[in-house]
Amino acid sequence: MLPDLITAVPGPESLRLAGELRRYESRNVTYLAEDWPVFWERAEGANVWDVDGNRFVDLTGAFAVAGLGHGRAEVVEAMTKQAGKLLHGMGDVHPTRLKAELCRTLSEMTFERWGAGVGKTVLSNSGFEAVETALKTALLATGRPKILAFENGYHGLGYGALLGTGFEKFRKPFESQLSDLTTWLPYPAAGDGLDELRGGLAAVENGSIGAVLVEPIQGRGGVVLPPEGFLKALRTWCDEQGALLIVDEIYTGFHRTGSLFACEHDGVVPDLICLGKALSGGFPISACVGKAEVMDAWPESTGEALHTSTFLGHPVGCAMALEALRLHRDVETAQMVEDSGQRLEKLLRELEMPFISEVRGRGIMWGVELDSGERAMGIVMDLLRAGYLALPGGPEGKVLCFSPPFGIGEEELRGAVGVIGKA
Ligand SMILES: Cc1ncc(COP(=O)(O)O)c(C=O)c1O
Repeated sequence: MLPDLITAVPGPESLRLAGELRRYESRNVTYLAEDWPVFWERAEGANVWDVDGNRFVDLTGAFAVAGLGHGRAEVVEAMTKQAGKLLHGMGDVHPTRLKAELCRTLSEMTFERWGAGVGKTVLSNSGFEAVETALKTALLATGRPKILAFENGYHGLGYGALLGTGFEKFRKPFESQLSDLTTWLPYPAAGDGLDELRGGLAAVENGSIGAVLVEPIQGRGGVVLPPEGFLKALRTWCDEQGALLIVDEIYTGFHRTGSLFACEHDGVVPDLICLGKALSGGFPISACVGKAEVMDAWPESTGEALHTSTFLGHPVGCAMALEALRLHRDVETAQMVEDSGQRLEKLLRELEMPFISEVRGRGIMWGVELDSGERAMGIVMDLLRAGYLALPGGPEGKVLCFSPPFGIGEEELRGAVGVIGKA
């Protein structure tokens, strides 16, 4: 369904609420301008309604969380049933049946499916926490505190995750409290990037690195696809060095790139995989899953976990994740990504405009690189006024990023790309 004609964005109620946030929320959190944001009221499928009654088509999947669609009925039912039974458990003390089932299912869908034995899980709430669990695991398993990460990589903003987040702007204000343990390499671009990568790896002090932290495709970095063989080269280097390979699939996981996990395109089995976002389709739950022998670097609990949190293994989140994972096992889900992804790719590639320097992506994760961040923001605003929600990405904000719900229709995609075509 194409968006309705939108007359005033943001509408009066959004503007009123923006005033409240200006007064009561810390001023760094929500970007507030005369024409931004709209306040969401409800959502269904690929549609979002704001508090002024405007309907938008969501090209972001709400940060790539809603791959299965906003308010997917099966997931909502699982959530509602669970909420009526048990709203909170004691994650690491007296846990729920659902936590055990989710850990088993994650093992089945990752390491067991890859023929690499059992995977063991630590659950958490946000994506950055899964990354921090992986970094702690790598330190325990290798005894080496140093890590290798990539420029413009995004792994979240907690102090631990900032060890690997390669955006200067997020690190700079807190640098005095960050330890200098990271070797940074450029994320290789398609083409001859692999040679540069090999050169960079060769310059690293032998045996010094405990973990390589990497996204199979950079998401917030602006949908950057590495050359073929990138993950394989990292896998080989990690094996030679005795370092662990941590693949951050918080963005790319759960069919976003066409396969269940993006590392599967390269046939690479990581030591640890970080999952979040689409894991539950909307509840803040994340997971670090690792090969059993690596995860067993953690000592057995004798009554107090070294790493846990109040809401670990939240029953509602686990129930939603189990249902979402069931839907991801359905072949129809992968087919939907293939169909919608191909449609989106075709439409984007047909755009012939002098300010577009590259169209790139995989599955239903696409980026259109433009000549400037101002141009990208201008188009994001055009899209908003026409009823489409989109976001710019990349270090200079000049990539239009698309990660819509998998079921988005051809008409909506055509409508959105049509707005870009008129820019
Ligand atoms: C690849 C990747 N890792 C980690 C994170 C951090 O997740 P969260 O914002 O849930 O902490 C993100 C968020 O965008 C991400 O894209």
